[in-house]
Amino acid sequence: MTDAQKTGDRQEPAAGTAAAGRPSRRSVLGWGGAGLALGAAAAGGTAAALRTGGDASPAAAAGDAVPFHGAHQAGISTPVQDRLHFAAFDVTTSDRAALVEVLKEWTAAAARMTAGHEIGEGAVPGNDELPPDDTGEALGLKPSRLTLTFGIGPGLFEKDGKDRFGLKDRRPKALIDLPVFPGDNLDAARSGGDLCVQACADDPQVAVHAIRNLARIGMGKVAIRWSQLGFGKTSSTTPDAQTPRNMMGFKDGTRNIAGTDTERLERHVWVGEKDGPDWMTGGSYLVARRIRMHIETWDRTSLAEQEDIFGRDKAEGAPVGKEREHDEPLLKAMKPDSHVRLAHPDSNNGATILRRGYSFTDGTDKLGRLDAGLFFIAYQKDVRDGFVPLQMNLARHDTLNEYIQHVGSAVFAVPPGVRDEDDWWGRALFA
Ligand code: HEM
Repeated sequence: MTDAQKTGDRQEPAAGTAAAGRPSRRSVLGWGGAGLALGAAAAGGTAAALRTGGDASPAAAAGDAVPFHGAHQAGISTPVQDRLHFAAFDVTTSDRAALVEVLKEWTAAAARMTAGHEIGEGAVPGNDELPPDDTGEALGLKPSRLTLTFGIGPGLFEKDGKDRFGLKDRRPKALIDLPVFPGDNLDAARSGGDLCVQACADDPQVAVHAIRNLARIGMGKVAIRWSQLGFGKTSSTTPDAQTPRNMMGFKDGTRNIAGTDTERLERHVWVGEKDGPDWMTGGSYLVARRIRMHIETWDRTSLAEQEDIFGRDKAEGAPVGKEREHDEPLLKAMKPDSHVRLAHPDSNNGATILRRGYSFTDGTDKLGRLDAGLFFIAYQKDVRDGFVPLQMNLARHDTLNEYIQHVGSAVFAVPPGVRDEDDWWGRALFA
C-alpha cells in the first residue's frame, strides 16, 4: 500500500510524470476540513450551491466523505448530492462463486472510493507491466460526498424460468415485477437489470469514475445493461436547505421525507424485522423510472396552467391558496387532477415514498427535441404500498401526463448497510 493510500488521499501522480506539473484541485482548495470550506467559499462554492439549490451545509461545500459502513446504505436518507450516475447490470456469469467474488471486490472498492481513496494498488502502481487497479480520473479530486448504493433486481432470483444461483426461494415478496401502468412506453434496453449501483456525488467525474471502475472489476461476469447520468437533483432529504427545481422550473422535493425524520423513515422506507425476509432487514426497495418530459410543449403552456397542473405556484412553490412553500397543502383547493393533490398520501391511503431523482438531458431526438426529463428514483419499505398505488393513481388521472412519458423502468431490493470491513454487498442473501 502506498503512503497516499495509508493517509486516505487519492494519490497524486509522482514527480516527473506528465501529470505531476499541473496544479491539482487539492493544492488549490486544500484537503483538511477548514481549509476546504475556506477554499470552496473562495472559489464561489457557496454562491454556486445557492444558485443550483444545493445544500448550503459546510459538508456540501467541503465535498467531505460520507461514511460507507452503517445500518443502512448511504445514498437513501443521506443528503442528496448534485450529480448521479446510475447503472443497471446484467449478471453474465452462471457461476455463483464468481458472482460472490465480484460482490466482495465491489464492496472493497466502494469503501475505498467513497472515502476518496484509490482502488487497490492505485492508478500509478509500482509495477507498470500491468493495467492499474484504478483508472485514475479521480486522482486529486475530493470524496465529493460520493455514495454508492447497491441493489438486486428480480432477475437474480429467477430468469427465463431458471433459478440461476439457487436464490429463488429467497426472493422478497415485496420485490414484485412492476405492473404495466397506463401510458407506459418502456424501452426494454433502458429497463430492468439483475443488479444496480446508484452513484451520487457532488462532482460528476467522481460518480462516473466509481461506476466505470465497478464495471471494470466485474468485466466478464457482469455487464452494464443501461446507465443514466443525472445533472441536477430534483429532491431533497434536507428540508432546511433550498429546494431544487426540476426541468419544468418548479421546486421539487418540498414534501419529501427528511433524512433526519427517523420515525417516517422507519414507517415508510426501511424494511423492519417483521417485514421479512431477514436478509432485507434495514434495507429498502428502489424504483427507478426514466420519465421523458415534452419540454417544448411545456414551454408553450401558460404559467397559470403550469401552476394548476402541479397545484403549487412556480416562484415560491406554495400550495394553492397558501403563502409559503412549506405551508400545509389544502388539497380541496387544488384541481382534482393536479399532480400534488393526486400524489399526496391523503389521496392514496397514506402511501408515502422517499424521492431522490435527478434531471437528465441526453442530447436531442430525431425531431430536434431535447431528450430531457426526470430520472425518478423512489425508496420505500414495500413497492406494493408505495410506488405502485401512487403511480397507478397518477397514470390514470394526472394532467401532467400530457407533458411526460415513462420510457424506462426498474425495481431493485436494496439490502441493509455494509456493517464493517468483513461484510460485503449481498452477504446475508448468499449466506
Ligand atoms: C416528470 C415527472 C414528475 C414531475 C415533474 C414531478 C414534480 C413534482 C413537483 C413539482 C412536486 C411538488 C413539490 C414537492 O412536494 O416535491 C411533486 C410532488 C410529489 N410528487 Fe412528483 N413529479 C413527477 C413524477 C412523480 C412520480 C412518478 C411520482 C410517484 C409515483 C411522484 C410523486 C410525488 C409525491 C409523492 C409528491 C408529494 C406530494 C405531497 O405530499 O404533497 N411524482 N412532484
